[in-house]
Amino acid sequence: MSLKDRKIIVTGGPTREWIDPVRYISNASSGKMGIALASAAHARSKDTVFIHGPIDPSLLSGGRFRTRAVESTGDLLGAVMDEISPDAVLIMAAAPADYRPAERLGLKIKKGSDELRIDLVKNPDILKNVAARKSADPSLSGLFVVGFAAETHDVEAYALSKLEEKDLDMICMNDVSREGAGFATDTNIVVIFKRGGGRVDFPLMSKRDLASAILDTIETGLAARVK
Ligand code: CTP
Repeated sequence: MSLKDRKIIVTGGPTREWIDPVRYISNASSGKMGIALASAAHARSKDTVFIHGPIDPSLLSGGRFRTRAVESTGDLLGAVMDEISPDAVLIMAAAPADYRPAERLGLKIKKGSDELRIDLVKNPDILKNVAARKSADPSLSGLFVVGFAAETHDVEAYALSKLEEKDLDMICMNDVSREGAGFATDTNIVVIFKRGGGRVDFPLMSKRDLASAILDTIETGLAARVK
């Protein structure tokens, strides 16, 4: 089954975890890589959905794919679990916040002492939840899962451990400390590692061209899997 006949779920952008009514924890993800992937996915499968955290709405204009807006990592987990299906491809380009405040305060924190500590608790790992669902439900064994690894050091080792720990079919590694790679830029430098070995290196490319190249690599991976 090629991408044309599959549902493609792309996630992108950051998530937001509120501290009080006026402050939150988030990260620098712009959602640009996710949007490029959703556009490239929609060119191959009309059944494409882009699940995104808070991003600049103008980035979405012109996109013809279905969208779902979420705010927190918990919301993103719910939306991903709701969308996955046996014939889907999940591309997790989102940068979910890994921690959230232990409690969300109803009233604004007022300036007081010189130091302020906020207790954080770990958020669920969405890809690990998907892996657990896949292993519990054999009908989902055909779900093809692609992760991203944004790293600043020991890039390859971390990407390979995520490939294994999150039970991924592929991981797209980018070293966000390199010029031209990373969150707010229009370009990226990616290396893909595949389940069971295999690596594809891409040069510095526009996120648009890279998205298309990643979709091509997924298509090849799907074809190899059915053999
Ligand atoms: N991811 C996820 N759930 C999270 C955090 C990340 O599913 N709570 C996904 C991301 O969308 C990405 C992959 O896991 O596809 C790796 O994300 P990354 O931020 O690089 O790594 P983490 O797993 O969060 O680990 P660390 O922050 O320690 O590098």
